[in-house]
Formats: sequence, structure tokens, C-alpha cells
Amino acid sequence: MDYLRIQGPTKLSGTVTISGAKNAALPLITLTLLAHNKVTLTNTPEVADIKTLLKLLENLGATQTLKNHVLELDTSTVSHTMANYDIVKTMRASILVLGPLLARFGHCEVSLPGGCAIGQRPIDLHLKALEQMGAQITIHAGYVNAIAPKGLQGAHIIFDKITVTGTANIVMAAALAHGKTVLVNCAKEPEVVQLCEILRDSGIDITGIGTSELTIIGTGGKTIDMVDFEIIPDRIEAGTYLCAGAITNSTITLEKVRPDHLDAVTSKLEQMGCTVDTDSEKMTMTIHPAAELKHVELITQEYPAFPTDMQAQFLALATLAKGTSIIEERLFENRFMHVSELQRLGADIRLNGHTATVIGESPLFGADVMATDLRASSALVLAAMAAEGTTNVHRIYHLDRGYENLEQKLRALGAKIERLKE
Ligand code: EPZ
Repeated sequence: MDYLRIQGPTKLSGTVTISGAKNAALPLITLTLLAHNKVTLTNTPEVADIKTLLKLLENLGATQTLKNHVLELDTSTVSHTMANYDIVKTMRASILVLGPLLARFGHCEVSLPGGCAIGQRPIDLHLKALEQMGAQITIHAGYVNAIAPKGLQGAHIIFDKITVTGTANIVMAAALAHGKTVLVNCAKEPEVVQLCEILRDSGIDITGIGTSELTIIGTGGKTIDMVDFEIIPDRIEAGTYLCAGAITNSTITLEKVRPDHLDAVTSKLEQMGCTVDTDSEKMTMTIHPAAELKHVELITQEYPAFPTDMQAQFLALATLAKGTSIIEERLFENRFMHVSELQRLGADIRLNGHTATVIGESPLFGADVMATDLRASSALVLAAMAAEGTTNVHRIYHLDRGYENLEQKLRALGAKIERLKE
């Protein structure tokens, strides 16, 4: 197993290029299951989660090549409909094949993803919506068995809770259903918006894109002629590098980024005293550190509010701020596993249910810490760059799932970071 050794404190400078968004690429890859043609996706992030999903699609019968961020994917040869436990257990987003497979083949068998390090993460809303569209669903031996012998039917669906992959799954199912589907209380994340835009550009009648209510007229089972496209920049990777600038007191510039996807993050950085210059046309953002980092209050919520995927990184940042910060996690019940690891570095954080109180200006010192999930891992790397001495971040396979070339990118900015074997 690999681990990262980071020498702190460190100062960064220069420019970093942001990769394509993992959480956009995952549903877009499963979207190709609705197509009868070969599709080319550019700006595809070459991270472990994408490779896992491509392996799953290959198991179903698809062919693919991924080179220099260009993914060529042909699902016209898909003949299997079973997503087995071995792959689904390693990546929850595999559930994104459920809607497309059922819509295209009228049946599928997908392993239940189960819980994960950040919470229970049920899929009841995905299943309930598909049932409303006429699917018969049974759970047997750890698998969701779904059938829709006459095809899926359009329906009026109100999501009880806003769900990102739930919205994506049902949008894809609705695209091949018979008749009109109206989805209410949808996720509005940029990744969901891009999925809808690609469907629209591929000829699907879909309205309400970017709002919480989507209306989709399905093709009645006919596969689509899908357009080629470029995956949007990863707003969470970008937010993480903005925090890297803030926590190391450095000015750095991000390239190939969408500043409009980061408004909530930028606003919190500015409240903490940093300056963020943006140029939407050139797709750049530059962070200038705060003269004195101020405490912050934030609540994680669905887009366009502050993202849960940036909570851990801001928690790391708040340990250095002047005053007491309050960080409330509203989306996942167990997304504070990084707190005890940050405490090992010297952070003063008190947890009370879903709220973390961070007493700022803690002197951080290097230590051995363990990554527990993707974003928790990046928070540890950020804290390590601000800490005095050597930090070893173990179990970085979590990081490799979603951050492309993290240590190469940070090293190019001046960080003292190396990947070693346990
Ligand atoms: C997506 O997960 C992201 N993953 C997550 O990114 C992100 O943290 C999350 O959205 C929230 O923004 C991908 O896009 C692949 P949800 P998802 O369904 O879709 C509850 C990362 O680090 N819920 O929007 O699985 C659920 O438990 C990650 O890249 C139900 O109750 O999240 C949670 O409390 C991790 N029933 C809330 O809704 C359901 O059927 C939001 O979850 C579905 C969800």
C-alpha cells in the first residue's frame, strides 16, 4: 500500500491545471449505455473510480480506450445486465448503471452498494422512483433485481430528499421511458446539469435544466445517437487547491476551472479573509492568502449552497484561523472521521452530533495519520502542508479514487511531498 510523506510547513506558488470532474464523468459514462453509437469523452479524469466504472462496463460487454484523458466508449456491444458485488462494493457510484440498464434492456441485476465510511447512503429514492415508472423491484441475495417487461413508463415523481446520483439515475431512465416524466425536487449540481445538457444535445426533449423540476419526454425504448463532449472541470478538486493556497499562505492560480461552480466556496474563503480573483472567460482563479485567517461558520447543503465534499478541507483550514469556527454537516451522518486524524496533528476540534466546533490557531505538528475517505484524505494533506515537521498520510487509495496526480500537482507548486510504499 502507498502512503504520502509530507514535509511542512510549506509555501506554494505557480499554476495548477484542474482535471475533469470525477462526479460528472461517472454518470456520463453510464449515460453512454443509452446510446447506439461510439462516444468520445474528452477531459476524462484518469482516477481509480473512473477505471473501476470502465471495468464494470467492460464486464457488461462494452469496449473502451482511455488515453490522454480521451475516452472512447462503445456500449452497442453490451449484452450482460448484471453489475456484480465485486465491483459495486468498491464503488457506490456503480449504482448509476441501474437506471440506464433497466431502461435499455427491461431488466437488470445490480448489487446493493451497502454503507460506506461517510454514512449509510441508502438507494431507496432511486428504487421508489423506478417503481413509480412501472419497474418491479425485488431485493434478493444482496442484489436489486429490476424488471420492466413493457418498458419504463413516464411518471410524476417527487423526490423526498434531494439526491445527486438518484436524480441522474432517474433522468437516464426517463430518457428511454414511454411518455413524459416530471421530476420534482431534483439535484441542481453542475454534474447533473451537464448530464441533462448532453441528453438535450443528443436529441432528448428535456426542459427545466438547472432547476429543481425536470420534464423529460422518453424515446419509448429507442436508444439515442449520443454527441461527443468534454467533461466539466472538477469543482471539488479546484476547491481543494484553493484551500491549499489559503492554508499555506500562498498565492496560486488554477487553470481550466469554472469559477461559477465555486461561488459558495469562494464566498467562504473571502469571509475568512482570502482574496479570490476570477476570470470566467480564461477559466482561471487565483487565490491570495488572508493577512490574518478569520474564523468561519458554514453549513453543508445541496448545490448551490456549500458542498459537503469541501467540508473536511475547510475544517483543516479553520484549525489555523483566528477565533472559533462552527461547521455543520447536514448531508451525511458520519462525515467527520477526519476529525480524530486532524486532532493527531494538534487540531482542537470538538464534535457534537453533526456540528464541529474548531478552536483556531492550533499549532499543527507532523504525525502519522490515516485517510478514511476521499475528501477526508485531502484535508489531511492540506493540514500536513501547514504542520511543522513530517506527516505520513496512510491509506491513500482513497485519494487515488478521485484526485488526479495529486502529489505531482502539489510538488509542481512547491510542496515537499512524496509517495512511498508501506
Ligand atoms: C453524490 O453522492 C456524490 N457522488 C458525493 O461525492 C457527494 O458527497 C454527494 O453527492 C452530495 O453532494 C457522486 O456524485 C458519485 P446523494 P450521492 O444521493 O449521489 C440521502 C465524493 O467525495 N439519500 O445526493 O450518493 C443520502 O444518504 C462524494 O466525491 C437517501 O436517503 O449522494 C444523503 O444523506 C462522496 N436515499 C443525501 O440523501 C437515497 O436513495 C444526499 O445523498 C439517496 C440518497
